Amino acid sequence: TAQRPHLSVRVSMIESLNEEIEKKLSSLSSPFWRLNGLSEEDVNSIMARTVCAKSAFELWGHGRTHIELRTSLLKYPTENMSPFLQKDSTYKINVYTFNKTLEFEDRIKKIDAMEYLSFEGRVNLRNPKHIFCLLEDYGTDPNDIPDEPLYIYFGRWIADGQRELIRSHSVKNRHFIGNTSMDAGLSFIMANHARVKAYDLVYDPFVGTGSLLVACSHFGAYVCGTDIDYNTIHGIGKASRKNQKWRGPDENIRANLRQYGSEKLYVDVLVSDASKPIWRDGVLFDAIITDPPYGIRESTRRTGSQKDSVNSVKPSEDYVGDSHVPVSMAYHLSDIFTDLLNFSAHHLVIGGRLVYWLPIYRPEYCEEMVPLNACLRLVSNCEQTLSSHTSRRLITMEKIKEPEETDALAHLSDPHFSPYQGHNAFREKYFSGISKRTLTGKEETNKMATNEH
Ligand SMILES: C[S@@+](CC[C@H](N)C(=O)[O-])C[C@H]1O[C@@H](n2cnc3c(N)ncnc32)[C@H](O)[C@@H]1O
Repeated sequence: TAQRPHLSVRVSMIESLNEEIEKKLSSLSSPFWRLNGLSEEDVNSIMARTVCAKSAFELWGHGRTHIELRTSLLKYPTENMSPFLQKDSTYKINVYTFNKTLEFEDRIKKIDAMEYLSFEGRVNLRNPKHIFCLLEDYGTDPNDIPDEPLYIYFGRWIADGQRELIRSHSVKNRHFIGNTSMDAGLSFIMANHARVKAYDLVYDPFVGTGSLLVACSHFGAYVCGTDIDYNTIHGIGKASRKNQKWRGPDENIRANLRQYGSEKLYVDVLVSDASKPIWRDGVLFDAIITDPPYGIRESTRRTGSQKDSVNSVKPSEDYVGDSHVPVSMAYHLSDIFTDLLNFSAHHLVIGGRLVYWLPIYRPEYCEEMVPLNACLRLVSNCEQTLSSHTSRRLITMEKIKEPEETDALAHLSDPHFSPYQGHNAFREKYFSGISKRTLTGKEETNKMATNEH
């Protein structure tokens, strides 16, 4: 079973854990998904990592009514059932409903009605050897809950997913947070898309408060990152929490990892501009996972020298350096993505993954806007809607070959390249989208009426 929000992210996440699985998904219209041809081992390995799926069951029977369910269950091969119904075993039956809460007595009635299955073991509610579940689907509209379920399933419980991680790692209770800290659920989804595993080395070039490093270290990876913001890296300056003015001592990424018991996996974080080559050739990461700045809640800046830009910010009067004067210049979104892909092409191991968010102005989005690179295969691209006009897409790419000299400039001659430039106006469009949205229906009508006169 899976929850509905971020549906496409959820499907794709399961696919990332096992690329064969998506092909086996038979239905997406319901929170209950049926997967065929998976071994119990496959299921256990997915459930050990996913924050999207709630529980997994071996399906024994299903139908639109209890009569259909019974017919279907009686057809299920006895040899598949009997190992779990033995005399010397213990069991319990749970009833799960979606979009409806049942009274205790109704649950008991439904459990009693299953007696046509030959359970020979003893009931043990506390610590049963086998758990069976009756799952009832009452649709997805909370304002239109049918009396009878739309669909019913019965099966043997195999494993629960890791949804508890969303609560235990919530940024609400995190030691060090910022205005753009990534929520725990999405951070785990990103780590799963990147297939992060124990002893990997993972890098976040726009690390902020390190939420993505927290998720990756949970899966046992060594983590490091860079950020252009000195205060963020050093955990000083203004606090992001409502009732706190300044950040307290030891509010930093290392302390975040310590909070979750993974400090030993902290490599380090550096103050550095992601547009500059600070890593020597041959430094390789198993995954690069990041949430680049869109310029909405944080600025998209990079360092440069005065001669690079007419828009650059002047250094202070008392600056006494010589020829190179560091200044702050605009860092266009299109360049951020081109640099990120180029960097990943050079610094990922073969088979390593880049996972990042691409902001999208929905009315103009087309697939060609997703930046490409000759060394990276696009694995998945799924949308998280932010408003009627904007969304962000979670892009997953995998390194398939080492870069050649011509690859670095290939994007300039790529017919895809000009659509990337469309990303540069994202900030402007984001805000124009907001001002359009804040007009109420009445204001819209008034505005139209005024225009008519
Ligand atoms: C969306 S935030 C990342 C948030 C982060 N995932 C977290 O959970 O806190 C983007 C970060 O990129 C940083 N940044 C902006 N321009 C940069 C640059 N040129 N190089 C490196 N970092 C940059 C910002 O300071 C900001 O912390």
